[in-house]
Amino acid sequence: MTDVTEILTEAPSGFEERSAEQLRDHAALALTRARERSTALTDAVDDEDLVRQHSKLMSPLVWDLAHIGSQEELWLVRDVGGREPLRPDIDDLYDAFQHPRADRPSLPLLGPAEARQYVGEVRAKAFEVLEKAPLSGRRLTEAAFAFGMITQHEQQHDETMLATHQLRRGEPVLHAPAAPGRRTGSLPEEVLVPGGPFLMGTSVEPWALDNERPAHEVDVPAFFIDTTPVTNGQYFEFLDAGGYDQRRWWSDAGWEYRTAHDITAPRFWRREPGGWWRTRFGVHEPVPADQPVVHVSFYEAEAYARWAGKRLPTEAEWEKAARWDPATGQSRRYPWGNEDPKPEHANLGQVHLSPAAAGAYPAGASALGVHQLIGDVWEWTSSDFAGYPGFAAFPYREYSEVFFGPEYKVLRGGSFGTDAAAIRGTFRNWDYPIRRQIFSGFRCARDAEGV
Ligand SMILES: [Fe+2]
Repeated sequence: MTDVTEILTEAPSGFEERSAEQLRDHAALALTRARERSTALTDAVDDEDLVRQHSKLMSPLVWDLAHIGSQEELWLVRDVGGREPLRPDIDDLYDAFQHPRADRPSLPLLGPAEARQYVGEVRAKAFEVLEKAPLSGRRLTEAAFAFGMITQHEQQHDETMLATHQLRRGEPVLHAPAAPGRRTGSLPEEVLVPGGPFLMGTSVEPWALDNERPAHEVDVPAFFIDTTPVTNGQYFEFLDAGGYDQRRWWSDAGWEYRTAHDITAPRFWRREPGGWWRTRFGVHEPVPADQPVVHVSFYEAEAYARWAGKRLPTEAEWEKAARWDPATGQSRRYPWGNEDPKPEHANLGQVHLSPAAAGAYPAGASALGVHQLIGDVWEWTSSDFAGYPGFAAFPYREYSEVFFGPEYKVLRGGSFGTDAAAIRGTFRNWDYPIRRQIFSGFRCARDAEGV
């Protein structure tokens, strides 16, 4: 008898075929791309704007910038490089655990010119380290992991800075071509994901973070999942049906949140005589019906799903729909296969400043025909953030482990503001269920008992 678990495999990352020189080039390119983005996000506004706190939820942009440099100094210059500290005096200022976001504006932070100079000096040293660091023999530098970790950290802060831009008032300062429209014929509403085991998480992806590890088998009963994220057009129906006023669709915590903060629609939306309008990076525009809904909290997503007669997918369901290839039993790196994201696969990297229409990325569909799992909007799942069986914190507990627990819900898949360097089929994001300044949307699922 064949044990099905023996044939579950994980697609190789392709890193194993790269020489040290290729790994260094790959890391240098990734770091440079991240810095170009950080520079664009901070150069887009004047100095006064850089030091201002645009929302209590966010840091001043100048804090994010110097914090990016501080983490890079800590890990690449001091730890990997064994070099002398550049600015040990500011370590404490940029330690995210020492100072909550609301307090950061009152700290004696580096000013814009100083912060720019500091991150430039750190980067020059980090490149010197990258030239010489052995890329094996130590887990931190194996396959250039530390450089990948710091690249992802910078890209994650870039997405946070993009969210700060969305919260900023004033004229638009960011510009990008409109996101593509639908590029498929009509799609089925749902896809059936057959029951059975699949391999979740990864043990082979070299730049995967500790919370994505290790690969482990999960038996997922059959379920249906929406082919695309829930669109604004679908969400209008929930609003029109009075969904925000009907207690029965909301969990206790969700209803308390909804009433305490008088939440009546997704964030940045307002009702105008002709329909719903939104503000997007300073632009006022009608809410487009064909794009996935964005800026909703977990509680709103959960209420919509209940109203629609469905539920949110678990994290395992989301990942199985994204990675599992029924033809081979293999878990792929991405929904479309194993190659790194290309522009035709997904709406990533702030190339556009909004989600794209449902059906805009047919080349990015999963083996089962589920679309836009990567890019467009982060998707709320019903799962709490927790370590996988066999989890081991690396390289520090504060990366993930201290956030494990029921306060945080997992989001998957990345948004239009997530860079390709910071997303994978296994990548896990987490946030409080009330958060909606992030680029968060969702798709629904439902049980398929007896199928
Ligand atoms: Fe950080």
